[in-house]
Amino acid sequence: MTTALLARPAQSLFERIQDRKSKIGIIGLGYVGLPLALLFAEEGFPVLGFDIDTQKVQSLMAGESYIYRVPKTEIQLARDKGFHATGDYSRVSDMDAIVICVPTPLDEHRQPDLSYVRSTVESVAPHLCPGQLLILESTTYPGTTDELVVPIVERMNRAGCRVARNGEPPAGNIFVAFSPEREDPGNDSIARKDVPKVVGGVDALATELARALYAALFHRVVTVSTPAVAEMSKLLENIYRCVNIALVNELKLLCLRMGIDIWEVIDAASTKPFGFQPFYPGPGLGGHCIPIDPFYLSWKARQWDFQMRFIELAGEINTAMPHHVVEAVGAALNSRNKPVNGSRVLVLGVSYKKDIDDLRESPALTIIELLRAQGAAVSYHDPFFPVLDKGRKYNLQLKCVPLETLAAYECVLIVTDHSSYDYGDIVRQAQLVVDTRNATRGINSSKVVRC
Ligand SMILES: NC(=O)c1ccc[n+]([C@@H]2O[C@H](COP(=O)([O-])OP(=O)(O)OC[C@H]3O[C@@H](n4cnc5c(N)ncnc54)[C@H](O)[C@@H]3O)[C@@H](O)[C@H]2O)c1
Repeated sequence: MTTALLARPAQSLFERIQDRKSKIGIIGLGYVGLPLALLFAEEGFPVLGFDIDTQKVQSLMAGESYIYRVPKTEIQLARDKGFHATGDYSRVSDMDAIVICVPTPLDEHRQPDLSYVRSTVESVAPHLCPGQLLILESTTYPGTTDELVVPIVERMNRAGCRVARNGEPPAGNIFVAFSPEREDPGNDSIARKDVPKVVGGVDALATELARALYAALFHRVVTVSTPAVAEMSKLLENIYRCVNIALVNELKLLCLRMGIDIWEVIDAASTKPFGFQPFYPGPGLGGHCIPIDPFYLSWKARQWDFQMRFIELAGEINTAMPHHVVEAVGAALNSRNKPVNGSRVLVLGVSYKKDIDDLRESPALTIIELLRAQGAAVSYHDPFFPVLDKGRKYNLQLKCVPLETLAAYECVLIVTDHSSYDYGDIVRQAQLVVDTRNATRGINSSKVVRC
Protein backbone atom coordinates (compact mmCIF):
# COMPACT_ATOMS: atom_id res chain seq x y z
CA MET A 1 0.00 0.00 0.00
CA THR A 2 1.41 3.41 -0.86
CA THR A 3 1.28 6.31 1.56
CA ALA A 4 -1.10 8.11 -0.83
CA LEU A 5 -3.72 5.44 -0.17
CA LEU A 6 -3.52 5.84 3.57
CA ALA A 7 -5.85 8.11 5.49
CA ARG A 8 -4.22 11.16 7.06
CA PRO A 9 -3.30 10.02 10.58
CA ALA A 10 -2.05 6.72 9.23
CA GLN A 11 -0.14 8.47 6.48
CA SER A 12 1.79 10.73 8.82
CA LEU A 13 2.64 7.76 11.08
CA PHE A 14 3.69 5.78 8.05
CA GLU A 15 6.04 8.60 7.02
CA ARG A 16 7.48 8.94 10.51
CA ILE A 17 8.18 5.19 10.55
CA GLN A 18 9.94 5.39 7.21
CA ASP A 19 12.01 8.35 8.43
CA ARG A 20 12.84 6.48 11.70
CA LYS A 21 11.25 9.40 13.55
CA SER A 22 8.30 7.54 15.06
CA LYS A 23 8.66 7.24 18.83
CA ILE A 24 8.43 3.63 20.00
CA GLY A 25 7.18 2.66 23.45
CA ILE A 26 7.95 -0.91 24.52
CA ILE A 27 5.96 -2.10 27.54
CA GLY A 28 7.45 -4.98 29.55
CA LEU A 29 11.25 -5.02 29.37
CA GLY A 30 11.86 -8.73 29.90
CA TYR A 31 13.31 -11.43 27.68
CA VAL A 32 11.15 -10.29 24.75
CA GLY A 33 10.67 -6.56 25.30
CA LEU A 34 14.24 -5.55 26.10
CA PRO A 35 15.87 -7.07 22.99
CA LEU A 36 13.05 -5.58 20.89
CA ALA A 37 13.62 -2.13 22.40
CA LEU A 38 17.35 -2.44 21.67
CA LEU A 39 16.65 -3.51 18.09
CA PHE A 40 14.50 -0.42 17.50
CA ALA A 41 17.16 1.79 19.09
CA GLU A 42 19.85 0.17 16.93
CA GLU A 43 17.78 1.05 13.85
CA GLY A 44 17.74 4.69 14.92
CA PHE A 45 14.22 4.95 16.37
CA PRO A 46 13.67 6.99 19.53
CA VAL A 47 12.70 4.32 22.08
CA LEU A 48 11.14 4.58 25.53
CA GLY A 49 10.84 1.38 27.58
CA PHE A 50 8.11 0.98 30.20
CA ASP A 51 8.22 -1.47 33.11
CA ILE A 52 6.54 -1.69 36.50
CA ASP A 53 9.71 -3.24 37.93
CA THR A 54 11.59 -0.17 39.19
CA GLN A 55 14.81 -2.17 39.61
CA LYS A 56 14.81 -2.97 35.90
CA VAL A 57 14.16 0.66 35.02
CA GLN A 58 17.00 1.78 37.29
CA SER A 59 19.42 -0.81 35.87
CA LEU A 60 18.69 0.25 32.31
CA MET A 61 19.05 3.92 33.11
CA ALA A 62 22.43 3.08 34.70
CA GLY A 63 23.42 1.24 31.50
CA GLU A 64 23.29 -2.16 33.22
CA SER A 65 21.78 -5.41 31.93
CA TYR A 66 19.81 -8.02 33.91
CA ILE A 67 19.60 -10.58 31.11
CA TYR A 68 22.66 -12.76 30.56
CA ARG A 69 22.53 -12.74 26.77
CA VAL A 70 22.03 -8.96 26.57
CA PRO A 71 25.48 -7.46 27.20
CA LYS A 72 25.55 -4.14 29.00
CA THR A 73 27.47 -2.63 26.09
CA GLU A 74 24.26 -3.00 24.03
CA ILE A 75 22.29 -1.13 26.69
CA GLN A 76 24.92 1.60 26.81
CA LEU A 77 24.93 1.89 23.04
CA ALA A 78 21.14 2.23 23.06
CA ARG A 79 21.37 4.79 25.89
CA ASP A 80 23.80 6.81 23.78
CA LYS A 81 21.19 6.79 21.03
CA GLY A 82 18.55 8.13 23.43
CA PHE A 83 16.95 4.94 24.81
CA HIS A 84 15.23 5.63 28.14
CA ALA A 85 13.22 3.51 30.55
CA THR A 86 10.39 4.62 32.79
CA GLY A 87 7.44 3.47 34.87
CA ASP A 88 5.39 6.52 34.03
CA TYR A 89 2.50 5.59 31.75
CA SER A 90 1.50 9.20 31.09
CA ARG A 91 4.41 9.26 28.63
CA VAL A 92 2.47 6.85 26.40
CA SER A 93 0.67 9.84 24.91
CA ASP A 94 3.97 11.00 23.43
CA MET A 95 4.57 7.73 21.55
CA ASP A 96 3.67 6.89 17.95
CA ALA A 97 3.68 3.13 18.36
CA ILE A 98 3.33 1.11 21.56
CA VAL A 99 4.27 -2.57 21.75
CA ILE A 100 3.12 -4.69 24.70
CA CYS A 101 5.41 -7.58 25.76
CA VAL A 102 4.14 -8.50 29.24
CA PRO A 103 3.86 -12.05 30.67
CA THR A 104 1.00 -14.42 29.90
CA PRO A 105 1.38 -17.27 32.43
CA LEU A 106 -1.15 -19.83 33.65
CA ASP A 107 -2.87 -19.37 37.00
CA GLU A 108 -2.92 -21.99 39.77
CA HIS A 109 -5.76 -23.83 37.98
CA ARG A 110 -3.67 -23.94 34.79
CA GLN A 111 -5.95 -21.44 33.11
CA PRO A 112 -4.78 -18.36 31.14
CA ASP A 113 -3.75 -15.53 33.43
CA LEU A 114 -4.30 -12.41 31.37
CA SER A 115 -4.04 -10.09 34.36
CA TYR A 116 -0.72 -8.63 33.12
CA VAL A 117 -2.12 -7.87 29.68
CA ARG A 118 -5.34 -6.50 31.14
CA SER A 119 -3.63 -4.24 33.66
CA THR A 120 -1.16 -3.03 31.05
CA VAL A 121 -3.88 -2.12 28.58
CA GLU A 122 -5.84 -0.45 31.39
CA SER A 123 -2.76 1.62 32.26
CA VAL A 124 -2.04 2.51 28.64
CA ALA A 125 -5.58 3.16 27.38
CA PRO A 126 -6.24 6.48 29.16
CA HIS A 127 -3.16 7.99 27.50
CA LEU A 128 -3.76 6.78 23.94
CA CYS A 129 -4.28 9.40 21.26
CA PRO A 130 -5.74 9.37 17.75
CA GLY A 131 -3.44 7.94 15.09
CA GLN A 132 -1.31 5.86 17.48
CA LEU A 133 -0.50 2.23 16.77
CA LEU A 134 -0.87 -0.29 19.60
CA ILE A 135 0.55 -3.80 19.11
CA LEU A 136 0.20 -6.78 21.44
CA GLU A 137 3.12 -9.25 21.26
CA SER A 138 2.37 -11.38 24.33
CA THR A 139 1.48 -14.95 23.38
CA THR A 140 -2.21 -15.60 23.96
CA TYR A 141 -5.35 -17.37 22.74
CA PRO A 142 -7.05 -16.30 19.51
CA GLY A 143 -9.54 -13.56 20.23
CA THR A 144 -7.56 -11.70 22.92
CA THR A 145 -6.86 -8.61 20.81
CA ASP A 146 -10.46 -8.27 19.64
CA GLU A 147 -12.20 -9.38 22.83
CA LEU A 148 -9.96 -7.93 25.55
CA VAL A 149 -7.62 -5.26 24.19
CA VAL A 150 -9.98 -3.38 21.86
CA PRO A 151 -12.86 -2.98 24.38
CA ILE A 152 -10.52 -1.67 27.10
CA VAL A 153 -8.91 0.79 24.70
CA GLU A 154 -12.28 2.11 23.62
CA ARG A 155 -13.75 2.21 27.12
CA MET A 156 -10.83 3.83 28.90
CA ASN A 157 -9.08 6.25 26.58
CA ARG A 158 -9.66 9.84 27.59
CA ALA A 159 -9.63 11.14 24.02
CA GLY A 160 -12.80 9.15 23.29
CA CYS A 161 -11.15 7.36 20.33
CA ARG A 162 -12.43 4.23 18.71
CA VAL A 163 -10.25 1.46 17.36
CA ALA A 164 -9.98 1.61 13.57
CA ARG A 165 -12.14 -1.04 11.89
CA ASN A 166 -12.49 -1.97 8.25
CA GLY A 167 -15.22 0.01 6.53
CA GLU A 168 -15.18 2.88 9.05
CA PRO A 169 -13.49 6.27 8.48
CA PRO A 170 -10.13 6.01 10.27
CA ALA A 171 -9.89 9.67 11.31
CA GLY A 172 -9.56 10.02 15.07
CA ASN A 173 -9.00 6.32 15.60
CA ILE A 174 -6.34 4.18 17.24
CA PHE A 175 -4.78 1.36 15.23
CA VAL A 176 -4.50 -2.01 16.96
CA ALA A 177 -2.66 -5.16 15.83
CA PHE A 178 -1.25 -8.42 17.15
CA SER A 179 2.23 -9.68 16.27
CA PRO A 180 3.65 -12.79 17.94
CA GLU A 181 7.22 -12.97 19.19
CA ARG A 182 9.38 -15.83 17.87
CA GLU A 183 12.37 -15.57 20.19
CA ASP A 184 14.38 -18.78 20.67
CA PRO A 185 16.60 -18.11 23.70
CA GLY A 186 20.15 -19.32 23.29
CA ASN A 187 19.79 -19.98 19.56
CA ASP A 188 22.54 -18.05 17.79
CA SER A 189 22.21 -19.92 14.51
CA ILE A 190 19.76 -17.43 13.03
CA ALA A 191 19.94 -13.65 13.26
CA ARG A 192 16.87 -12.04 14.81
CA LYS A 193 16.31 -9.99 11.64
CA ASP A 194 16.07 -13.17 9.59
CA VAL A 195 13.15 -14.52 11.60
CA PRO A 196 10.02 -13.48 9.67
CA LYS A 197 7.51 -11.46 11.67
CA VAL A 198 3.78 -12.20 11.45
CA VAL A 199 1.28 -9.33 11.89
CA GLY A 200 -2.49 -9.14 11.86
CA GLY A 201 -4.33 -5.86 12.44
CA VAL A 202 -7.90 -5.19 13.54
CA ASP A 203 -8.25 -3.35 10.23
CA ALA A 204 -6.23 -3.15 7.02
CA LEU A 205 -4.53 0.13 8.00
CA ALA A 206 -3.40 -1.27 11.33
CA THR A 207 -1.94 -4.28 9.52
CA GLU A 208 -0.18 -2.01 7.07
CA LEU A 209 1.25 0.23 9.77
CA ALA A 210 2.45 -2.73 11.82
CA ARG A 211 3.99 -4.19 8.67
CA ALA A 212 5.82 -0.93 7.97
CA LEU A 213 7.07 -0.72 11.55
CA TYR A 214 8.44 -4.26 11.71
CA ALA A 215 9.85 -4.02 8.18
CA ALA A 216 12.37 -1.59 9.68
CA LEU A 217 13.68 -4.46 11.85
CA PHE A 218 12.95 -7.73 10.08
CA HIS A 219 13.80 -8.83 6.56
CA ARG A 220 10.38 -10.38 6.03
CA VAL A 221 7.02 -9.38 7.47
CA VAL A 222 4.09 -11.72 6.86
CA THR A 223 0.69 -10.08 7.05
CA VAL A 224 -2.43 -12.07 7.91
CA SER A 225 -6.08 -11.09 7.71
CA THR A 226 -6.95 -10.77 11.43
CA PRO A 227 -5.29 -10.61 14.86
CA ALA A 228 -6.89 -13.99 15.62
CA VAL A 229 -5.00 -15.63 12.74
CA ALA A 230 -1.74 -14.15 14.06
CA GLU A 231 -2.57 -15.27 17.63
CA MET A 232 -3.45 -18.78 16.45
CA SER A 233 -0.33 -19.06 14.27
CA LYS A 234 1.90 -18.55 17.32
CA LEU A 235 -0.01 -21.21 19.23
CA LEU A 236 0.25 -23.62 16.31
CA GLU A 237 4.05 -23.19 16.33
CA ASN A 238 4.28 -23.92 20.03
CA ILE A 239 1.74 -26.75 20.05
CA TYR A 240 3.65 -28.36 17.20
CA ARG A 241 6.76 -28.39 19.41
CA CYS A 242 4.92 -29.49 22.53
CA VAL A 243 3.21 -32.44 20.80
CA ASN A 244 6.35 -33.59 19.00
CA ILE A 245 8.43 -33.38 22.18
CA ALA A 246 5.77 -35.47 23.94
CA LEU A 247 5.91 -38.02 21.13
CA VAL A 248 9.65 -38.37 21.39
CA ASN A 249 9.52 -38.46 25.20
CA GLU A 250 7.06 -41.34 25.03
CA LEU A 251 9.16 -43.07 22.40
CA LYS A 252 12.16 -42.71 24.71
CA LEU A 253 10.33 -44.55 27.49
CA LEU A 254 9.61 -47.43 25.11
CA CYS A 255 13.19 -47.41 23.79
CA LEU A 256 14.54 -47.59 27.33
CA ARG A 257 12.46 -50.71 27.91
CA MET A 258 13.52 -52.24 24.60
CA GLY A 259 17.19 -51.43 25.12
CA ILE A 260 17.30 -49.17 22.05
CA ASP A 261 19.23 -45.88 22.09
CA ILE A 262 16.59 -43.20 21.26
CA TRP A 263 19.30 -40.67 20.42
CA GLU A 264 20.80 -42.96 17.83
CA VAL A 265 17.30 -43.53 16.43
CA ILE A 266 16.72 -39.77 16.10
CA ASP A 267 20.10 -39.27 14.46
CA ALA A 268 19.32 -41.98 11.94
CA ALA A 269 15.81 -40.63 11.20
CA SER A 270 17.23 -37.11 10.82
CA THR A 271 19.18 -38.18 7.76
CA LYS A 272 15.88 -38.22 5.84
CA PRO A 273 16.10 -35.08 3.71
CA PHE A 274 12.34 -34.40 3.69
CA GLY A 275 9.27 -34.82 5.88
CA PHE A 276 11.10 -35.24 9.20
CA GLN A 277 12.23 -32.74 11.80
CA PRO A 278 14.10 -33.98 14.86
CA PHE A 279 12.80 -33.31 18.38
CA TYR A 280 14.70 -34.50 21.42
CA PRO A 281 13.58 -36.12 24.67
CA GLY A 282 14.46 -34.57 28.02
CA PRO A 283 13.61 -34.29 31.71
CA GLY A 284 10.40 -32.33 31.01
CA LEU A 285 9.32 -29.10 29.39
CA GLY A 286 10.45 -25.70 30.58
CA GLY A 287 10.39 -22.03 29.68
CA HIS A 288 7.69 -19.46 29.34
CA CYS A 289 6.23 -20.87 26.12
CA ILE A 290 5.98 -24.58 25.38
CA PRO A 291 4.65 -25.77 28.78
CA ILE A 292 2.14 -22.91 28.94
CA ASP A 293 0.91 -21.58 25.61
CA PRO A 294 -0.85 -24.74 24.37
CA PHE A 295 -3.14 -24.56 27.41
CA TYR A 296 -4.26 -21.09 26.35
CA LEU A 297 -5.81 -22.77 23.34
CA SER A 298 -7.27 -25.81 25.12
CA TRP A 299 -8.91 -23.37 27.57
CA LYS A 300 -10.32 -21.26 24.74
CA ALA A 301 -11.46 -24.37 22.85
CA ARG A 302 -13.69 -25.34 25.78
CA GLN A 303 -15.67 -22.13 25.22
CA TRP A 304 -16.47 -23.60 21.83
CA ASP A 305 -17.41 -26.97 23.31
CA PHE A 306 -14.27 -28.43 21.84
CA GLN A 307 -11.68 -30.70 23.44
CA MET A 308 -8.03 -30.29 22.33
CA ARG A 309 -7.04 -33.91 22.94
CA PHE A 310 -3.56 -33.67 21.39
CA ILE A 311 -2.65 -30.82 23.74
CA GLU A 312 -4.00 -32.57 26.82
CA LEU A 313 -2.22 -35.84 25.99
CA ALA A 314 1.07 -34.09 25.21
CA GLY A 315 0.75 -32.17 28.50
CA GLU A 316 0.17 -35.42 30.39
CA ILE A 317 3.25 -37.11 28.89
CA ASN A 318 5.52 -34.09 29.25
CA THR A 319 4.55 -33.34 32.85
CA ALA A 320 5.24 -36.97 33.77
CA MET A 321 8.88 -36.69 32.65
CA PRO A 322 10.32 -35.23 35.90
CA HIS A 323 8.66 -38.13 37.73
CA HIS A 324 10.30 -40.54 35.31
CA VAL A 325 13.69 -38.93 36.06
CA VAL A 326 13.20 -39.30 39.80
CA GLU A 327 12.22 -42.96 39.33
CA ALA A 328 15.37 -43.45 37.24
CA VAL A 329 17.51 -41.93 40.02
CA GLY A 330 15.80 -44.27 42.53
CA ALA A 331 16.43 -47.31 40.31
CA ALA A 332 20.07 -46.34 39.69
CA LEU A 333 20.72 -45.88 43.42
CA ASN A 334 18.85 -49.12 44.17
CA SER A 335 21.11 -51.02 41.79
CA ARG A 336 24.00 -49.88 44.01
CA ASN A 337 22.14 -50.95 47.16
CA LYS A 338 21.35 -47.37 48.14
CA PRO A 339 18.00 -45.79 48.95
CA VAL A 340 16.99 -42.34 47.73
CA ASN A 341 16.26 -41.45 51.34
CA GLY A 342 19.45 -40.02 52.80
CA SER A 343 21.43 -40.10 49.55
CA ARG A 344 23.26 -36.98 48.44
CA VAL A 345 22.19 -36.02 44.94
CA LEU A 346 23.86 -33.23 42.96
CA VAL A 347 21.69 -31.72 40.24
CA LEU A 348 23.77 -30.28 37.40
CA GLY A 349 22.04 -27.49 35.52
CA VAL A 350 18.75 -25.95 36.63
CA SER A 351 17.83 -23.55 33.83
CA TYR A 352 15.15 -24.95 31.54
CA LYS A 353 17.56 -25.32 28.65
CA LYS A 354 21.28 -25.17 28.15
CA ASP A 355 23.35 -22.00 28.26
CA ILE A 356 20.55 -19.64 29.24
CA ASP A 357 19.69 -17.85 32.48
CA ASP A 358 15.99 -18.68 32.54
CA LEU A 359 14.46 -20.81 35.28
CA ARG A 360 10.82 -20.44 34.35
CA GLU A 361 8.91 -23.73 34.50
CA SER A 362 12.24 -25.56 34.63
CA PRO A 363 11.80 -29.31 35.21
CA ALA A 364 14.90 -29.17 37.45
CA LEU A 365 12.83 -27.41 40.12
CA THR A 366 10.18 -30.14 40.10
CA ILE A 367 12.86 -32.84 40.16
CA ILE A 368 14.59 -31.24 43.17
CA GLU A 369 11.27 -30.99 45.00
CA LEU A 370 10.36 -34.63 44.21
CA LEU A 371 13.78 -35.93 45.29
CA ARG A 372 13.58 -33.94 48.51
CA ALA A 373 10.12 -35.37 49.19
CA GLN A 374 11.72 -38.82 49.06
CA GLY A 375 14.36 -37.81 51.59
CA ALA A 376 17.31 -37.13 49.27
CA ALA A 377 19.78 -34.44 50.32
CA VAL A 378 19.77 -32.39 47.13
CA SER A 379 22.42 -29.86 46.09
CA TYR A 380 22.75 -28.16 42.75
CA HIS A 381 25.23 -26.46 40.49
CA ASP A 382 24.44 -24.05 37.68
CA PRO A 383 26.79 -21.35 36.35
CA PHE A 384 23.81 -19.02 35.81
CA PHE A 385 22.19 -19.26 39.25
CA PRO A 386 24.16 -18.60 42.45
CA VAL A 387 21.00 -19.21 44.52
CA LEU A 388 17.61 -20.86 44.11
CA ASP A 389 15.19 -19.06 46.36
CA LYS A 390 11.51 -18.31 46.07
CA GLY A 391 10.06 -18.67 42.58
CA ARG A 392 6.54 -18.77 41.20
CA LYS A 393 5.94 -22.35 42.41
CA TYR A 394 8.82 -23.41 44.63
CA ASN A 395 10.75 -22.04 47.53
CA LEU A 396 13.88 -24.19 47.44
CA GLN A 397 16.35 -22.02 49.36
CA LEU A 398 19.49 -23.59 47.92
CA LYS A 399 22.93 -22.16 47.16
CA CYS A 400 24.97 -23.26 44.17
CA VAL A 401 27.73 -25.61 45.36
CA PRO A 402 31.20 -25.73 43.82
CA LEU A 403 31.91 -28.48 41.30
CA GLU A 404 34.88 -29.72 43.29
CA THR A 405 33.62 -32.63 45.37
CA LEU A 406 31.64 -34.74 42.94
CA ALA A 407 32.78 -38.01 44.52
CA ALA A 408 30.98 -37.00 47.73
CA TYR A 409 27.56 -37.44 46.08
CA GLU A 410 25.87 -40.79 45.74
CA CYS A 411 24.42 -39.52 42.47
CA VAL A 412 25.16 -36.71 40.02
CA LEU A 413 22.06 -35.95 37.99
CA ILE A 414 22.49 -34.06 34.70
CA VAL A 415 19.28 -32.10 34.14
CA THR A 416 20.56 -29.27 31.92
CA ASP A 417 23.48 -29.91 29.59
CA HIS A 418 25.29 -26.56 29.79
CA SER A 419 28.19 -26.35 27.34
CA SER A 420 30.62 -25.24 30.05
CA TYR A 421 30.56 -28.64 31.80
CA ASP A 422 33.35 -31.12 31.16
CA TYR A 423 31.27 -34.30 31.03
CA GLY A 424 34.28 -36.60 30.77
CA ASP A 425 35.66 -35.15 33.98
CA ILE A 426 32.26 -35.32 35.68
CA VAL A 427 31.97 -39.04 34.89
CA ARG A 428 35.55 -39.64 36.04
CA GLN A 429 34.94 -38.02 39.42
CA ALA A 430 31.38 -39.09 40.18
CA GLN A 431 30.25 -42.36 41.77
CA LEU A 432 27.12 -42.49 39.60
CA VAL A 433 25.83 -40.21 36.82
CA VAL A 434 22.19 -40.15 35.74
CA ASP A 435 21.97 -38.33 32.42
CA THR A 436 18.64 -36.95 31.18
CA ARG A 437 20.07 -35.18 28.08
CA ASN A 438 22.56 -37.58 26.54
CA ALA A 439 25.24 -35.10 27.58
CA THR A 440 27.59 -38.05 28.18
CA ARG A 441 27.20 -39.25 24.60
CA GLY A 442 30.27 -41.20 23.56
CA ILE A 443 31.46 -41.77 27.12
CA ASN A 444 31.55 -45.48 27.86
CA SER A 445 31.28 -46.03 31.60
CA SER A 446 29.29 -48.31 33.88
CA LYS A 447 28.80 -45.27 36.11
CA VAL A 448 26.49 -43.64 33.56
CA VAL A 449 22.75 -44.30 33.46
CA ARG A 450 20.89 -42.57 30.62
CA CYS A 451 17.23 -41.95 31.21
N1 LIG B 1 10.85 -15.49 26.64
C1 LIG B 1 10.66 -16.02 25.45
O1 LIG B 1 11.52 -16.72 24.94
C2 LIG B 1 9.37 -15.77 24.68
C3 LIG B 1 9.31 -16.19 23.34
C4 LIG B 1 8.15 -15.93 22.60
C5 LIG B 1 7.07 -15.30 23.21
N2 LIG B 1 7.14 -14.93 24.53
C6 LIG B 1 5.97 -14.24 25.09
O2 LIG B 1 6.30 -12.88 25.29
C7 LIG B 1 5.62 -12.37 26.45
C8 LIG B 1 6.65 -11.76 27.41
O3 LIG B 1 7.52 -12.78 27.82
P1 LIG B 1 8.92 -12.49 28.49
O4 LIG B 1 9.66 -13.77 28.45
O5 LIG B 1 9.56 -11.28 27.92
O6 LIG B 1 8.45 -12.15 29.99
P2 LIG B 1 9.36 -11.52 31.16
O7 LIG B 1 8.74 -11.98 32.43
O8 LIG B 1 10.80 -11.78 30.90
O9 LIG B 1 9.16 -9.96 30.99
C9 LIG B 1 7.95 -9.34 31.16
C10 LIG B 1 8.21 -7.95 31.70
O10 LIG B 1 6.95 -7.27 31.79
C11 LIG B 1 6.97 -6.48 32.96
N3 LIG B 1 5.60 -6.16 33.33
C12 LIG B 1 4.66 -6.95 33.89
N4 LIG B 1 3.51 -6.27 34.02
C13 LIG B 1 3.72 -5.03 33.54
C14 LIG B 1 2.92 -3.88 33.38
N5 LIG B 1 1.66 -3.85 33.78
N6 LIG B 1 3.49 -2.78 32.84
C15 LIG B 1 4.78 -2.78 32.44
N7 LIG B 1 5.58 -3.85 32.55
C16 LIG B 1 5.05 -4.95 33.09
C17 LIG B 1 7.73 -7.33 33.96
O11 LIG B 1 8.23 -6.55 35.03
C18 LIG B 1 8.83 -7.91 33.08
O12 LIG B 1 9.97 -7.07 33.06
C19 LIG B 1 4.85 -13.54 27.03
O13 LIG B 1 3.55 -13.53 26.53
C20 LIG B 1 5.58 -14.74 26.46
O14 LIG B 1 4.75 -15.88 26.37
C21 LIG B 1 8.27 -15.13 25.26
